[in-house]
Amino acid sequence: MNHFLDIHKTDSTSLRQMIETAGRMKNARHDRPKGAPDDELPLAGRIVALIFEKPSTRTRVSFDVGVRQMGGETMVLSGNDMQLGHGETIADTARVLSRYVDMIMIRTFDESVLIEMAEYADVPVINGLTDRTHPCQIMADIMTYEEHRGPIAGKKVVWTGDGNNVCASFLHAAGQFGFDFTFTGPAQLDPDGDFVGFARQQGATVTIERDARAAVQGADLVVADTWVSMHDAQSARERRHNMLRPYQVNAALMAEAKPDALFMHCLPAHREEEVTSEVMDGPNSVIFDEAENRLHAQKAVMRWCLGV
Ligand code: CP
Ligand code: NVA
Repeated sequence: MNHFLDIHKTDSTSLRQMIETAGRMKNARHDRPKGAPDDELPLAGRIVALIFEKPSTRTRVSFDVGVRQMGGETMVLSGNDMQLGHGETIADTARVLSRYVDMIMIRTFDESVLIEMAEYADVPVINGLTDRTHPCQIMADIMTYEEHRGPIAGKKVVWTGDGNNVCASFLHAAGQFGFDFTFTGPAQLDPDGDFVGFARQQGATVTIERDARAAVQGADLVVADTWVSMHDAQSARERRHNMLRPYQVNAALMAEAKPDALFMHCLPAHREEEVTSEVMDGPNSVIFDEAENRLHAQKAVMRWCLGV
């Protein structure tokens, strides 16, 4: 049994194998109805608890559908409706859930909740986003890039805006998959030094560039995310918007990248804020493939966790 807690905590051979499994499973489904089961049903007889302490559309639906396509069943739980949200410890919750279900996916605030859940659970625990990282998203992003453009190793990925949880997992992936990573955003919102340090230690080139146009020169992939994440104080909204406005991804900025550069956004997006509709709906945007690939990538993650 394996936990899937973060990209830097998972060996690169397993990560690569998951991307391959995801592609194989996606191709095997062809044009089947979404609700049709896969040919192989590795999760038959298994139940997966999906715990959400924050809102979600993609993570919730893609995990739920993915489990069912593989023959399993899900239980979607809101943290607030559980005793977890009313004083029961994470350790006790983990030990109890392990007696009922075969795997736990959790979206939570503080990373320590995820870590403690994994420490006390006897079943695999998957990170469905914390304030610090979002590894399932980046597995889907790597899969999407490679579907469109081939191996991501050696390519230039440019992150625009806030050095947030999704940016952090991209930095982990830069180290594990061997691509160059440029962050462009205000100094106050730089990614944590731990994430940059990991990528560099693994041999990735990480560049911090305050000027967005200079950063995007020669990019193979340009990425944006919301300027105000779920864990950010709403009171900081205006200040963040003012700081981040120069980093909006628009047609003029994309023109600085390679002509065939892709655009990604994990969604949900705020159109005309971090990215214009012209870019989101433009020919270089792969945002909906990215969203679809959450399903396929996570199916591979779940199989790896259970060893099935
Ligand atoms: N990208 C992503 O994780 O979306 P949700 O918040 O809708 O799950
Ligand atoms: N950075 C965003 C990602 C949402 C999927 C957030 O944490 O709100």
